Amino acid sequence: MSLRLDGKNALITGAASGIGRASAIRFAEEGANVAVADRNLAAAEETAAAVRKLGRKAVAIQVDVSDPAQVNAMLEKCVKDLGGLDVLLAAAGVSHARYGEGEVKHRLLHEIPFEEWRRLMAINLDGCFLTCQAAARQMIAQGRGGRIIAIASGAAKVPIKGSGEYAVSKAGVWMLMKNMALELGRYDITCNAIGPGVIDTPMTKDLQESKNFDRMMKQAPLKRIGKPVDVANTALFLASEEGSYFTGSILHPDGGFVMQ
Ligand SMILES: NC(=O)c1ccc[n+]([C@@H]2O[C@H](COP(=O)([O-])OP(=O)(O)OC[C@H]3O[C@@H](n4cnc5c(N)ncnc54)[C@H](O)[C@@H]3O)[C@@H](O)[C@H]2O)c1
Repeated sequence: MSLRLDGKNALITGAASGIGRASAIRFAEEGANVAVADRNLAAAEETAAAVRKLGRKAVAIQVDVSDPAQVNAMLEKCVKDLGGLDVLLAAAGVSHARYGEGEVKHRLLHEIPFEEWRRLMAINLDGCFLTCQAAARQMIAQGRGGRIIAIASGAAKVPIKGSGEYAVSKAGVWMLMKNMALELGRYDITCNAIGPGVIDTPMTKDLQESKNFDRMMKQAPLKRIGKPVDVANTALFLASEEGSYFTGSILHPDGGFVMQ
């Protein structure tokens, strides 16, 4: 069987860790060259090395996705080094659990300071918008279509008490994909979101160590936390030929969490 992303050029943000890294490796296993973008360059270099080991081209790019100039520079470097862009996976993001550098701080929406709201929106929503906008401009200029995939969350549909700003940012990411899907279809560019449940990455480390975690897993239909590769496989599907008739959708690799 031929590789599902043979010769495609993919840009993945947040690719130094977790879901982004697993996707970079999964895409490379299926034949893609990968631009590995993240604010953590040293860890992005490690992902790029893993991609090269699979025989594909890789470039590590340092970027803060909330900065428009850095996002444009990321796109330029990706196109210069890989030769074009066929697939974007926007996975860079932060959660409420990151506010205290590892300490989980749940706060109700009427309590959170505006600076914390802004910080999260700047990365999760502005960052996703800037990245998808830059990718769309490149794909339109190339004239051969493309795939835009953004990692939202199950929280795009289900509110979470104490993490409202995260849920709002991810609902925004999904609506961004729906609106872009409407506008970019005529260029043969599909735009979809992925809404994972709880996935075993550094982002959920504090949650996994918390008292509630075992109870959460017992209540979950599949009784287990998701693996980064569960999400990577969903992204691979949307990026591949099999996913070509999806646009404006959200897919939930979540073990059944979101339907509850
Ligand atoms: N882990 C989960 O349970 C889960 C569930 C639903 C959605 N998500 C979403 O999946 C995506 C990936 O998360 P993960 O679980 O792999 O977490 P992670 O912390 O392992 O990876 C996130 C990556 O994003 C990078 N990043 C953060 N801010 C950035 C910025 N401003 N510019 C560039 N890079 C930045 C980090 O350096 C890190 O490498 C996020 O958007 C997250 O909100 C995760």
